[in-house]
Amino acid sequence: MNERLAICPGSFDPVTFGHLDIMHRAAELFDRVIVLVSVNAEKTPCFTAEERMEMIREVTRDIPNIEVAALDGLLADYVKKTGACAIVKGLRAMTDFEYEFQMALINKKLYDGAETVFLVTRSENMYLSSSVVKQVASFGGDISGFVPASIVERINKRLNKTER
Ligand code: PNS
Repeated sequence: MNERLAICPGSFDPVTFGHLDIMHRAAELFDRVIVLVSVNAEKTPCFTAEERMEMIREVTRDIPNIEVAALDGLLADYVKKTGACAIVKGLRAMTDFEYEFQMALINKKLYDGAETVFLVTRSENMYLSSSVVKQVASFGGDISGFVPASIVERINKRLNKTER
C-alpha cells in the first residue's frame, strides 16, 4: 500500500505543547508527517523560519516519522507536489473553526487530491497559543507550562524584555 503522508502546516511562532500534541497524534495516524513552517500573510513572525524549524526539530526529535520543512508559497501546491493525502490542523474552539473551515475549502478548491483533517485539541491546551507564549515571555513570566523545556531559554532570550 502507498505510504500515507500528512502535512501539518502552521506558523509555529513558536511551537507550543498544543502544537506538539497535534504532531504526536498525526504521527500515530499517518506513516509520515511533514511539519511545515508556512507563511501566514496576516501575521508578522518573531522568529525566522529557520529558527522555528530548529525549535520544532528539537521538540520532535523523539518522533521518528516526523520531518520539518519550510514553505514560502501556497500550501495546496506543496501538498500536490509531495503527494500528501492529508493536511492536519488542530482546532481549539469555535473561534478557530471559521478561519480553518475557509482555509480547508480554499485548499480543496486549489487541489482536490487531499483532505483537511481536524484534530480537536486536548482540553488542557485550549487556552494555549503562540501569542500567549510570546506575551508571557516578554513580561518575564514562566513559560515552562506552555512550551517544552528544551526551547524555553531560547524563547526567553529573544523575548524577555526584563532580562535586558
Ligand atoms: O498557525 P497558523 O498561522 O494558523 O497557520 C496558517 C497557515 C500558515 C497554515 C496558512 O496561513 C497557510 O496555509 N499559509 C500558506 C499560504 C497558503 O496556502 N494560504 C492559503 C490560501 S489563502
